[in-house]
Amino acid sequence: MAKLLKTKLAVVLCIAGLTFGLQASTDGDTESANIRSDNKMSLQSGAKTYMNYCLACHSLQYMRYDKLVDGVGVPVELVEQNLMFTGDKTSDHITNNMPAADAKEWFGIVPPDLTLISRVRGADWLYTYLKSFYADSNRPFGVNNSLFKDVGMPHVLAPLQGKQVKTNNAVELESKIEAADIGIAIANRDGDAAAATKNKAIMHEASEALAQLKHDHQYFEIASAGSLNGEEYNTVVRDLVNFLDYASEPVKLEREALGIKVILFLLALFGITYLLKKEYWRDIH
Ligand code: HEC
Repeated sequence: MAKLLKTKLAVVLCIAGLTFGLQASTDGDTESANIRSDNKMSLQSGAKTYMNYCLACHSLQYMRYDKLVDGVGVPVELVEQNLMFTGDKTSDHITNNMPAADAKEWFGIVPPDLTLISRVRGADWLYTYLKSFYADSNRPFGVNNSLFKDVGMPHVLAPLQGKQVKTNNAVELESKIEAADIGIAIANRDGDAAAATKNKAIMHEASEALAQLKHDHQYFEIASAGSLNGEEYNTVVRDLVNFLDYASEPVKLEREALGIKVILFLLALFGITYLLKKEYWRDIH
């Protein structure tokens, strides 16, 4: 019996370890969004930001307005008066009026529907993405994104965040890495092993310094301020991502609550079954 228990325990630990390992191994370049899906205030603020800053280009066509009332807790009058720019009834899907052909001409690509984006990209990716726009005069809208290179989307939250640029240190390290990369290619072509090793060392050192810079939040700086400070902007983005995460799975809250109940029920059932087993075997031993 004890041996069987040990085997079971080992299996459970293995599965737990594997799940944790898989979660921990997601992209190291993203920052944790730390969203709280049961925080209704946060969901409401996110819904408002979405309707004001994102809906013009991105529909949420697999979600209906009434999901804003049920799950997010926005009073129905407020949804009708303030949030419904396109639909007529609360049972309508959240679409927008942007003709796809025009969008293609303006942006080179039709802005995708975002109902399921949180499932595709994950909350941390979205959070980091919305914080990674920086000034780049080579791009059509004057901005680029360090997480989504050469993105076709303008930085629509710039009035809030301000103008973000890469710090001098970041620019310097990146050009060092680029130069070392070219150096390695040339050294390989010429068969110059010493030069290749030297460039690889430079690249390694610069990459580590760059990672440290990102970790210390010194990769970007704000060149001209927006209407929010850094902390406030983070909160707005976190709420927005929380809302997008809700949109991708409105039953998540119910599902999680139900899961806990089911596990408690199974534990109770286990206790009762165990007592019953003892009762059955009492006279045999
Ligand atoms: C002016 C139009 C416009 C607005 C407003 C806009 N976007 Fe975009 N967005 C785009 C375009 C165009 C793309 C496609 C970019 C590409 O693929 O290069 C895009 C792409 C994205 C993507 C990446 C999708 C993918 O491929 O994974 C996300 C996420 C996103 N937008 C979120 C938002 C959010 C959140 C807002 C509101 C704060 C917003 N967008 C507002 C035009 C817009």
